[in-house]
Amino acid sequence: MKTVIFRGCLITIFALLAAASVQAKTLVVYYSYTNNVERIVDALRTKIDADVLEIEPAQKGLDYAADNYAIGSVQIAAIRNNPDDAASYPAIDPVDVNLSDYDCIILGAPLWWSNMAAPLQTFLFQYGKEMDGKKIGLIVSSASSGISGVEADAKRLIPGGDFLSPSLWIRSSQTSNAGAMLGNWLKVINYDSLTSVISHISTDPDERYTVYTLSGIKLLSDVRSTAGLSSGVYIINGKKTIISE
Ligand SMILES: Cc1cc2nc3c(=O)[nH]c(=O)nc-3n(C[C@H](O)[C@H](O)[C@H](O)COP(=O)(O)O)c2cc1C
Repeated sequence: MKTVIFRGCLITIFALLAAASVQAKTLVVYYSYTNNVERIVDALRTKIDADVLEIEPAQKGLDYAADNYAIGSVQIAAIRNNPDDAASYPAIDPVDVNLSDYDCIILGAPLWWSNMAAPLQTFLFQYGKEMDGKKIGLIVSSASSGISGVEADAKRLIPGGDFLSPSLWIRSSQTSNAGAMLGNWLKVINYDSLTSVISHISTDPDERYTVYTLSGIKLLSDVRSTAGLSSGVYIINGKKTIISE
C-alpha cells in the first residue's frame, strides 16, 4: 500500500515538472509590399502556432512598383554591389525580438529582381548571425521568376542556419491557394516532428531516455530525466528532438 502511495506521489511530481517544460517555438518573419506574402502568412497562422514579426521599411510611402520597379531595382543593385556593407541595406523600423526564444524561423519573402526583397534582407543582415543552428524555413512569393536567388540570399545572410528543404515557392497567382500549398509543405518538411518537444522528465514511470548529439555522440543512456541538457537539437530515443528552455 505504501509503495502505491509513494509511486502515485512520484508520478504527480513528475507530471508537474513535465508541465513546467516549455514548448519549442517558431517565429515567422515577413515583409510584404502588395500583401501577397501577408496573405500567405495569414494562412500559415491558421496552421501552426507561431509568433509573427512583420518587417517595415523606415521610409514610408515609397512606390516600389513605379517606373518599372525603379526603387526596388536601385535597392537590390546596392546590396548586390556591396553585400557586406550595412549602408547598402534600406533602413527598417526597429524590431523587438529575442531570437534565442525560437528554435525554428520561417521567412516570408517577396522576390525582387530575382533576389529577396530588400527590407527583409536588411532584417537578416542585422539578425541573421544570431540564427546559428536554428531551423530556417523559406517561403517565397514571385510573379513568375524562380526562387534560387532568394534562397542564396537567405543562406548568405544566415550563414549558420539549418535550412529546411525544399523552400516553398508560391506564385502571386497562387496566393489564394496558399492554404493547401502550405499544408502540403509542412508535411514535406515534417514540421510537426521539428517542433516536437519532450518534457525534461518522463511522465511514464517505465520510460527511459537515451540521448545522442546530432553528430552521434552518446550523452545520456537509459535515464529518466534529460534535465541536464541545454537547449538544442538532439537524437532522443532515435528521434530528432528539440529541447527548449
Ligand atoms: C521591386 C519589385 C521587383 C520585382 N521583381 C520581380 C521579378 O524579378 N520577378 C518576378 O517574378 N516578380 C517580381 N516582382 C513581383 C513580386 O515578386 C510579386 O508580386 C510578389 O507576390 C510580391 O509579394 P508581396 O505582395 O508580398 O509584396 C517584383 C516586385 C517588386 C515590388
